[in-house]
Amino acid sequence: MTSAADTPIDALSPLEAAAEIARLLEAIRAADRLYYQDDAPTLSDADYDRLRLRLVALEARFPELVRPDSPTGKVGAGASEKFEKVRHVVPMLSLDNAFADDDVRDFVARVHKFLATHGQTVAFTAEPKIDGLSLSIRYVNGRLVSAATRGDGAEGENVTANVRTIAEVPQVLPDDVPEVLEVRGEVYMSHADFAALNVKAEAFGGKVFANPRNAAAGSLRQLDAAITAARPLKFFAYAWGEISPDWAVETQYERVRAFGRWGFPVNPRMVRCASAEELLEVYRGLEADRARLGYDIDGVVYKVDRIDLQTRLGFVSRSPRWAIAHKFPAEKARTVLEGIDIQVGRTGAHTPVARLTPVTVGGVVVTNATLHNADEIARLDARIGDTVVVQRAGDVIPQIVEVVRDEGHDGRAAFDFPHLCLCDLKT
Ligand code: IVH
Repeated sequence: MTSAADTPIDALSPLEAAAEIARLLEAIRAADRLYYQDDAPTLSDADYDRLRLRLVALEARFPELVRPDSPTGKVGAGASEKFEKVRHVVPMLSLDNAFADDDVRDFVARVHKFLATHGQTVAFTAEPKIDGLSLSIRYVNGRLVSAATRGDGAEGENVTANVRTIAEVPQVLPDDVPEVLEVRGEVYMSHADFAALNVKAEAFGGKVFANPRNAAAGSLRQLDAAITAARPLKFFAYAWGEISPDWAVETQYERVRAFGRWGFPVNPRMVRCASAEELLEVYRGLEADRARLGYDIDGVVYKVDRIDLQTRLGFVSRSPRWAIAHKFPAEKARTVLEGIDIQVGRTGAHTPVARLTPVTVGGVVVTNATLHNADEIARLDARIGDTVVVQRAGDVIPQIVEVVRDEGHDGRAAFDFPHLCLCDLKT
């Protein structure tokens, strides 16, 4: 049976489309809540992007069904109730995504067309897309006065006391900085610090985080700044909010370099490019080096370098026309399925968990992966001893996405899913 979720959009009646939009809104809101407020996502980035793309496509096909509060017109999930709110003078917006090389070529072509360049070169920057959480830090006369998370883009959470404890964030800047300066960037945690934090948490019964991004978010969004102080948070500056108008540094590249001179950590892999092909070369280089960087990146951000051109290009809905995030595909690796354990949840649901020969996927050692349910094991025809492909997509639980049909597969026994276990009989 196919559900509405699989039906091509053109085949949906308006009534079916309305029901499908309601379902997607609910799923996206729930995912946003878990991601932004609870720092405990359950969907992979790829699955989340799929929901959003389907909603965008449905809204384009049925504009009369667009809800005023649709998340496609909105960034993030709003600030949490537990923090004081800060209104961003310059909104903190999000980026459109590119997945394929041609999306990047289209982006560059759109920029040229909009600017009517008639063959003249436009410079772009290419920067690693750091997988952390964005932060805006405000300085007045060179002194840190406040810091806020993105929140819904218009209003964020006041995390000033917490940010003051991050050693990498300067409290005082040199004399030559603009009077008002908001530096924006990403708070993140390195792989090594994340692993050490989780080892400590396991030993002392603290919260074990699913990935470095959640560890960074959970560490920053603490009501007690002393907890943040004990967490190894890092920061990369890559953007800005309000700045006094007299600052005559005219490009993205030079502005970020100035942040570096003032004491902010800036990413050493930022480069300037002159064409889509050059941007794609940077993407391939970063993809190849990804596991060795020591921190998570989930793509590359391309930006028009000249700020006057950025201003001309402006924004569409929640994202700038002058920038795009080129996402990496989910990270995958091959390993051996050593066993399948059945976990029995509080509701009695039986969830199969794959036990794997440990394998590094994007810098994280994976030993377990979800197999979802009996149907999924049957669909994959996963048998103990098989070589499998595991995928980690910045999400909580790695997944098995494929069984490699090697010579031994047919000789292995199909997995017999135990629907009844001894614990069911103990009453
Ligand atoms: S620029 C107006 N540059 O990605 C756009 N964002 O998906 C300002 N991110 O909200 C953002 N690395 O949290 C920019 N080098 C980078 C980035 C970056 C990571 C994050 C940031 C942003 C999200 C958009």
